[in-house]
Order: sequence, then structure tokens, then C-alpha cells
Amino acid sequence: MAYTFKRDETFARDLDDMDILFSFRERFHIPQHQGAPAIYFCGNSLGLQPKSAHFLFKKELEDWAGLGVEGHFEATNPWFYYANQFSESLAKIIGCLPEEVMAMNTLTVNLHFLLLSFYKPDAKRYKIIMEAGAFPSDQYAIETQVKMHGLNPDEAIIELKPKPGAYCLEDDDILSAIEAAGDELACVLMGGVNYYTGQLYDMAAITKKTHQAGALAGFDLAHATGNVPLSLHKWSVDFACICSYKYLNSGPGGVGALYVHERWGNDQSVFRLAGWWGNEEATRFEMKKGFIPAKGAAGWQISNAPVFNMVGLKASLDIMDNTSMEALRAKSRKMTAYLEYLLRDLDHLSFTIITPTDPDKRGAQLSLLFHKDGKKVFNALTKAGVIADWREPDVIRIAPVPLYNTYSEVYRFYQILKALS
Ligand SMILES: Cc1ncc(COP(=O)(O)O)c(C=O)c1O
Repeated sequence: MAYTFKRDETFARDLDDMDILFSFRERFHIPQHQGAPAIYFCGNSLGLQPKSAHFLFKKELEDWAGLGVEGHFEATNPWFYYANQFSESLAKIIGCLPEEVMAMNTLTVNLHFLLLSFYKPDAKRYKIIMEAGAFPSDQYAIETQVKMHGLNPDEAIIELKPKPGAYCLEDDDILSAIEAAGDELACVLMGGVNYYTGQLYDMAAITKKTHQAGALAGFDLAHATGNVPLSLHKWSVDFACICSYKYLNSGPGGVGALYVHERWGNDQSVFRLAGWWGNEEATRFEMKKGFIPAKGAAGWQISNAPVFNMVGLKASLDIMDNTSMEALRAKSRKMTAYLEYLLRDLDHLSFTIITPTDPDKRGAQLSLLFHKDGKKVFNALTKAGVIADWREPDVIRIAPVPLYNTYSEVYRFYQILKALS
């Protein structure tokens, strides 16, 4: 959709007045800067605290104090089932069946567990495709998984690099690389949205091409979850790891989630490292020898639910349940387009927006690569009460989040940049 924007404060305020999601901002604590709300554009790194979190944490503390072990079944939100309550909401956010997703562990831990199940190299099929310059944790995870199988990372990992002079990958280049790897390809593991450039990949096309090559497709959805609509089940994605502390606002180090397509989740023969909590619920407490995996993603659980690391997710999903990814995406597209429109007016600063201009190929985030004075600009923004994030060597990432950011904040941010000499 083409928008008509204006560079004035009243226009930004009018956009806020027309914003059907505006009232959601009230449900979050906004960090303060010198006694006034900061402009928080860092929800792609750590989402804000839902105000309800305080009450929910207190409730769990009270239940623990008052009930002890009885809280497993008698607490207001019984701890035995604590993780199960998130699957319906998460399924709506990532587009899958509720049985295909389960909150557990943390992001990179889930990535490792998934690779243990789905990266099964043999003499012929042993290669794994990923983006060059993926988030370091993903690089380390894949490298060590490859080594664990006794393989040489330089031979087994195919890193996809943008064309010379480009910042982002082209869809066709990704698909051609998958085709070229052919029957040597075991697995593709890409981000859904690249953490550095903000590029949104065509997960449906990547999955289809990967399957045509006879391999499995997995995604690290750290920057995609709650940011862009996903249809993992429909796209037939094999596996994915999900982060809850960015666009889902579950709090620092908040519990991750793991998705497996039902064709794997219902196949008990798929290898996974087991623990008692992944055993089918009915016999979990029989304490017998012989692991019987629960159906679906639940069968990848290992330990009992870390309740206090899940309370933030409860607070956040209660909020997400009151809106939809479609509504969030509509506002997000518009707000990021407004940000881009304003940034393009700033020719006194030397930067390139390396995030794709096509709204279908990005989420909320814009990444500004500074050709000079990047750190100086970043420090000036911080001093002026803008919380953004700096990524070495030269990028400032800005993410207006539709749940709690406003068009007026985007406009004020532009004014702050405009005033810099
Ligand atoms: C793409 C990506 N992968 C992995 C991680 C690491 O997450 P964790 O520390 O929760 O494992 C992050 C964190 O920001 C990330 O953005």
C-alpha cells in the first residue's frame, strides 16, 4: 500500500489519533529518561515490561509461599500445566497447530536440540545452508553441531553472502544455492528476519525449495516472532526456534519456544534428547524405565517448567491475545514506512538504510549503516533519550514496535536527528 505522509508534528499526532492499537501502549512500562518517557526503539532486542507482569509474578510468589509443592496442582495457574497454557496463543502468532509449539528452554538451547533431531548428516547429505553473518549464537551452534558429527565446518557449512556491494540476499540467490547443493544438502537453517539487516526471508519459498532438494528446512525466528505474520504449518516448515523476549515482551532471558511440524512431532522415532517432562503426560509420574515421547513439540521438553521464567510470557501473551498479527503488521508496515520517509529527508547525515525498501521484505526494524560518525550519532541519540541499539561496526538498528510505539515518537526521533550537526 502506498502511503501519503507529511513531515509535521500534527500529522504524526493525527496518525496516533487514528491508530486502533494506540491504547495498548498503556499496558507497558515505558523506560524513563530525565523524568520523561524515553523513545524506546529497541523492542527488537528486549521488549518492554507489561504492567501486569508485576501482579502475575507476585501471585506465583504467593502461591509458592502458601502452597509449596501443592502448587503444582493447586496454584492459581497450576505449575504442572504451566507451559501448556501458551501453545494456543503462540500457535496464532507463528501460524501452526497448538500441538506443534511448546514454550521451553531458551533460544539457542532450543536451536541445539532441534539440530540434534533434524541435522542428521550422512556420507552424502551433510551440508547445511545458513546466512553469512548470522547472529553469532547461530554461527557457534551450527559450527559445533557440525563438529560434533566429525565434519569440517568449512566443508559442511554453506554461508550465503549478498552480491558484491549489496547488503541483503536476493531470494533467487538463496533458492539457487539450495538447488545447487542438491543431494548434498541435509538442512537449511536461516533466520526468519536477519538480526543485522532486518531482511525478512521468503520462508515459504525456501522451505519448498529445500524439500525439493530432499532436505529439511528450519528457521531461527528470534526476530520474526511477533514481528511479522508467519504460517509455519502451511509453509510446511520442519522446525523452528522462537524467542519471546523481543517482540513478545516476556522479559530478559525469557523462556523460548520450539516448533516442530506435526509430521515430525507425531513420529516417536525422531531422535531427541529426552527428559521426564517430554514423556507423555499420562505416564510421566509412573517413573518407569523407557521414554515415551509426548505428541508434538511437547515431546521435546526435558525439564519441568521454569515457572518464574514463564510468568513474563503469560503477561505478554495475555496482551497479544487481545489483538492479532494482522493488526500489528498493518500498523508496523505503516509506522516503519513513516520512519523511512522521514529518514530519507536527512541528507546531512551520512548513512544508508540497508534494510530492504520493499515492506514485504522487512519487519519493523530499519538498520542504518553509517559511513561516518555512526557512534557519535548513536551517543547523541542516547543523550537525547532515544533507546536504540548499536551493532558493530557501524549500524544503528531502529525498531518502532506497533504494540507500544507511536507515530509521534517516530517524528520526534526524526527531529532529534535533524537537529544534529
Ligand atoms: C538471531 C538470534 N539468534 C540467537 C540469539 C541468542 O538468544 P539466546 O541468548 O536467548 O539464546 C539472539 C539474541 O538476540 C538472536 O537475535
